[in-house]
Amino acid sequence: MDLKQYFRDIQDFPKEGILFKDITPLLLSPEAREEMLETLVTTLKDKKIDKVVGVESRGFFFGILLAQKLNAGFIPVRKPKKLPYETISASYELEYGQDTLEMHIDAIQKGDKVLIHDDVLATGGTIKAVCELVEKLGGEIVQCNFLMELSFLTGREKIKGKEIFAAITY
Ligand code: PRP
Ligand code: MG
Repeated sequence: MDLKQYFRDIQDFPKEGILFKDITPLLLSPEAREEMLETLVTTLKDKKIDKVVGVESRGFFFGILLAQKLNAGFIPVRKPKKLPYETISASYELEYGQDTLEMHIDAIQKGDKVLIHDDVLATGGTIKAVCELVEKLGGEIVQCNFLMELSFLTGREKIKGKEIFAAITY
């Protein structure tokens, strides 16, 4: 199965000049979802993942599927003021300004083997902030995985030294 056909190009979204990769066709197809899940999980054989971290909001879809498949806990990383319990936070740069992500302080135990999942690796700002959160709590990052990597934005430079896997590269 060519998974690329489940990513739809939308020109000029969310603003002019941007070619947006829409994952909703992938979400619509049980067969394609399963194939994607298998592709991601195959790289994690014998890695004994304790926790999967999914990044709000598009990292939640496959994050929870991965956690189920890997028999691991699931941790939502959320945008500010969404989590009800005590949190730690990390900020990252946007094109204009800054954004922050949060995680519950008791989500990770020291030494936990952690998989971080998001839908896309673009400039890498998001994933870098999430890595900081996991490491602040003493988690060991086994891999950062993505449905797709936009390699021309060189996001992987921001998390040098981390194992990175993307099912599809553009
Ligand atoms: C998008 C995407 C990734 C992030 C990648 O999320 O889902 O999380 O940007 O970009 P980066 O590598 O340049 O940081 P967005 O913040 O748009 O929010 P959403 O997932 O809630 O749509
Ligand atoms: Mg996102």
